[in-house]
Amino acid sequence: MAVGDFVFLDGAYLTAPEARISPFDRGFLFADAVYEVTAVYDGKCFDMDGHLTRLKRSLGELAFDAPPALDQIAEMHAELIVRNNLTEGQIYLQVSRGAYGDRDFVAPASTVPTVFAFTQAKQLIDTAASRNGIRAITVDDIRWGRRDIKTTQLLAQTLAKQTAKQAGAQDAWMVEEGLVTEGASANAWIVTQDDVLVTRQISNSILSGITRASVISRLGNLHFEERAFTPDEAKAAKEAFSTSASALVMPVVQLDDTQIGDGTPGPVTRSIQRAYYEAMGANVQAVAPWALA
Ligand code: PDD
Repeated sequence: MAVGDFVFLDGAYLTAPEARISPFDRGFLFADAVYEVTAVYDGKCFDMDGHLTRLKRSLGELAFDAPPALDQIAEMHAELIVRNNLTEGQIYLQVSRGAYGDRDFVAPASTVPTVFAFTQAKQLIDTAASRNGIRAITVDDIRWGRRDIKTTQLLAQTLAKQTAKQAGAQDAWMVEEGLVTEGASANAWIVTQDDVLVTRQISNSILSGITRASVISRLGNLHFEERAFTPDEAKAAKEAFSTSASALVMPVVQLDDTQIGDGTPGPVTRSIQRAYYEAMGANVQAVAPWALA
């Protein structure tokens, strides 16, 4: 395959080396992007309407602010074909939520999408594979069952946090097959009515949180279990909190419409916050007197 000399980036036709995307682009940081690949034959896009319709749907599902106009996308494809003198091959188009020079799970509403496209010349029809066929193997479909790997594949979490924000909440706890997996960017914990501290066991279903492990190493004689729990069990719990390097030990006082406990951070959560802040070297009396109560 040969990439065409000219690419399209945010309204401009540039040579490939001229095209620069911010490292804060959400396509890079969160996989917060959609794409299309359209076949080109005889210098024309094939099935363009289908690709544009799916693109429109994908953009709508991600709810980008100010998504690109579809007729302009179609025009740009035609222009790239001409500029690169492409007869047979494909056009790759990616639209990300854009960059604003920072990293938050939910982007500011004013963020302008990044639109990038390039052409690839290649034989599509008369190839050895088309003539003779290919071999295939079967593999487990693990999309995306490998949450134990800390990848930047964060689109699902981004959407979860966006939904949370729209609902007036600050975080989302994700549920699979009736069980809480973890928070969108944190591990989830509850304190049951029997005063048992519970967090889900490590597996491919969750990220093995460093904060989680650090908290576990400081539990003292608290009664602790590693197992999955349902949203209902969490709602009926005495306390709930989440752990992450970005929010440390974060009390969760409401889940959906249900207040947890009395709706304020409970004593076990407070003791874990305290122990964690102290381990960090914080003067808790000075910086977090509320954690001593
Ligand atoms: N997120 N689970 C998920 C899905 C996470 O993204 C994170 C961290 C955690 C907690 O892991 P740790 O305790 O090692 O931070 C659990 C980081 C903080 C983020 O994306 O901002």
